[in-house]
Amino acid sequence: MDNPNERGWTPKKRLEGKVALVIGAGQSAGEGLGNGRATALRFAREGARVAAANRHIESVAETVDMIKAEGGEAFALRTDVTVEQDIVDAVKATMDKWGRIDILHYNVGVSLGLGDTNVIEITETAFDNIYKTNLRGAAFACKHVLPIMREQRSGAIVNVSSATAVGLSPFVAYKASKAAMNAMTEQLALQNAPYNIRVNAIMPGLIDTPMAVQTRVEKLSVPREQLLAERAAKVPLGRRGTAWDVADLALFLASEEASFITGECILVDGGRILNRT
Ligand SMILES: NC(=O)c1ccc[n+]([C@@H]2O[C@H](COP(=O)([O-])OP(=O)(O)OC[C@H]3O[C@@H](n4cnc5c(N)ncnc54)[C@H](O)[C@@H]3O)[C@@H](O)[C@H]2O)c1
Repeated sequence: MDNPNERGWTPKKRLEGKVALVIGAGQSAGEGLGNGRATALRFAREGARVAAANRHIESVAETVDMIKAEGGEAFALRTDVTVEQDIVDAVKATMDKWGRIDILHYNVGVSLGLGDTNVIEITETAFDNIYKTNLRGAAFACKHVLPIMREQRSGAIVNVSSATAVGLSPFVAYKASKAAMNAMTEQLALQNAPYNIRVNAIMPGLIDTPMAVQTRVEKLSVPREQLLAERAAKVPLGRRGTAWDVADLALFLASEEASFITGECILVDGGRILNRT
């Protein structure tokens, strides 16, 4: 049954008619669901057409297949965010296909996988690659999408940051890149508010994605069950987060329901930040 809210629109599907470019819509190898894939699926279920970009085409093609199997619309793009031309090509391909971009969701983020460690041991290569991937890629995605959104005089950008940006972390480059992403989110929100473009960030806490769990099991040599139990024990709500927890917040921020929210960096962490000792 139709149920118009006070704004007068009828939210049958929360992203009906919207085009979303989701960068990092594949996922790392391993058991479970990644944040980008869950968000791409969630967007599509709510009616968005999804341009799904990722460096690993096989992984993002799988995401697209899942969307299509549910009756959604999506296509896959091979995009390495450390190469500006790849970002330009992804934006152009989305415009060529659907003629607009309403949502830019930047999910790419890497830490241990690119050699992050403490400040004494970090290498130039590791630091630069993590910064290029997590921060410069996000900035350059905005560089090429914002002119389109400005022209449209509407748009929503959602950057996937991390609770680590405001909490404790043993790893230097990831934390710094995500804290910088929060700063950039605020700056871009202010500069683009006159164009009716909102820019927000999500700060996930301990989320059970293949990247977070599998990489730690392998690189830190911790048994899987022990790692999962340790992660759950740190969360006041008593459970580990799932990629759907992140996708739900992304959906809210991308949707009209968040039309008066910009420049916010929002935690989705089960209260973990309250428990930092
Ligand atoms: N899982 C957690 O506990 C957690 C916590 C805080 C923040 N996050 C953030 O959530 C986001 C997704 O994390 P996830 O755990 O689902 O990881 P993930 O590795 O599954 O997702 C990241 C995606 O980005 C892709 N990618 C990596 N480098 C790329 C590049 N150069 N160009 C294009 N694509 C590239 C990967 O192939 C992958 O598909 C990241 O930004 C991460 O920092 C995750």
